[in-house]
Amino acid sequence: METLWVVDFGSQYSLLIVRRARELGVYAELLPWNRLPDSLPSHVKGLILSGSHASVSEGPPLPTHWLGARPILAICYSAQWVAARRGGAVEESFAREYGPAEVEVCEPDSPLWKGLPLQSRVWMSHGDTITALPKGARLTARTQTIPFAAYDIPEEQLYAVQFHPEVVHTEQGKAILRNFLRDICGFTENWRPEDEIEQLTSSLREQMPTGEAICALSGGIDSTVAALLVHKAIGERFHGFFVDTGLLRAGEREEVLSAYKAVGLPVQVIEGEAAFYQALKGVTDPETKRKRIGHLFIELFEKEAARLPHVHYLVQGTIYPDVVESGTGVAATIKSHHNVGGLPKHLSLSLIEPLRLFFKDEVRALGKRLGLPPHFLERHPFPGPGLAVRILGEVTPERVSRLRKADQIFIETLRKSQWYTHTWQAFAVLLPQRAVGVGGDQRSYGEVIVLRAVDSTDGMTASPTPLPHEVLSEAAKRILAEVPDIGRVVYDISTKPPATIEWE
Ligand code: XMP
Repeated sequence: METLWVVDFGSQYSLLIVRRARELGVYAELLPWNRLPDSLPSHVKGLILSGSHASVSEGPPLPTHWLGARPILAICYSAQWVAARRGGAVEESFAREYGPAEVEVCEPDSPLWKGLPLQSRVWMSHGDTITALPKGARLTARTQTIPFAAYDIPEEQLYAVQFHPEVVHTEQGKAILRNFLRDICGFTENWRPEDEIEQLTSSLREQMPTGEAICALSGGIDSTVAALLVHKAIGERFHGFFVDTGLLRAGEREEVLSAYKAVGLPVQVIEGEAAFYQALKGVTDPETKRKRIGHLFIELFEKEAARLPHVHYLVQGTIYPDVVESGTGVAATIKSHHNVGGLPKHLSLSLIEPLRLFFKDEVRALGKRLGLPPHFLERHPFPGPGLAVRILGEVTPERVSRLRKADQIFIETLRKSQWYTHTWQAFAVLLPQRAVGVGGDQRSYGEVIVLRAVDSTDGMTASPTPLPHEVLSEAAKRILAEVPDIGRVVYDISTKPPATIEWE
């Protein structure tokens, strides 16, 4: 398959380059700079070299024989590295080269700038700057403070920009990338994640020639799509388990199981409610809660899996951003605390992660093609430890049912007002403090419900969703009227960072 390699030199934006290319219909992969093979495979039709937090004088090298071997777009640090390598000069910059800048195209014939306005806004983020172009290069764009904002050497298929076309703040960023991918590299731009299903299932079949595979399904999109792919590949050798922790939202178990049924995914329910409540009795420390839930989850899952003969594989819904550690891109690790139901080491199972190379929206596209109903695909993320991390203080059956009811009212209100699909994640939290109120002629003390709704793209950063006042007050009115023992309802307007999305 025609592929773009994005060589990662450690920029915070490297993964974004991969994402943009795929949005343009070009299959792209991120390669850490220190794990490059000696030669370029023939299916690699182009290269984008990322930025870096390093300075050119100390930064990592690129195999020089790659220069000229394929079309290259060098971004930021890489543009400087190539310039320095090819007889130009790079020095520490004294002008402001962070943030927005107006770029002026001075070589509209350059294929990179074809069809684009002569002036537009770009996003800069660098400490060094090019002070002399490399030999044979022509200047293609500049800004008021940066004389060499972009250059090219078309005979060598080399294009370089000191700004970041991959970030949304660069107005023509997508058009620049399209010019590079379509016109310069010749990509056909017809890659779609859902077209990968046949290829994925046949390679899964090869990966798992014999033996059984197990998967703990959380009801989330990632584990569901991973399971569906494996089930499609190996049929009845796949065994899914859904642990009912008793810490699920109202109606969640029914909703999830009916979606699994609709797509023919065989999933066995493990009844864990009593065991989880027992394990959480008297526990108020958030870390202890998480640990107890994690351990019990694995214990129950393992016990069921042990009944099956010949289990060789554990299927997980790990996705691309979980695998690629931002920064160096070198270490492949899975987020640890977000990974309830991880691999029990002593079972020595092989890990199967069919979604390792996919982004969340691509997983949704795969899920859609595999027949998952739309309402299932638009569900908000839900943490593995469930409502336990949304109940501050002790988790008791009474408090779970109080929170569940308040959460249900909030979600219903969002659905009714069409806000559910316009916020990334929304939920209620129960605080252990009691606040004073009046009930009839008497003072009453009830617990506090916090409503939280955030806008985000990946959960790494988030800002509070600006819900209309009427929506919030409708939810608050109903919660105070319908949920016993609640004294106050408040809305959380904290951003992440410094706050997190969850309260524990
Ligand atoms: P935080 O609270 O870290 O949450 O800002 C970021 C995203 O991750 C989800 N989250 C979890 N998901 N197990 C999960 O599967 C967990 O332990 C966990 N903790 C947080 C959270 O809901 C948000 O979407």
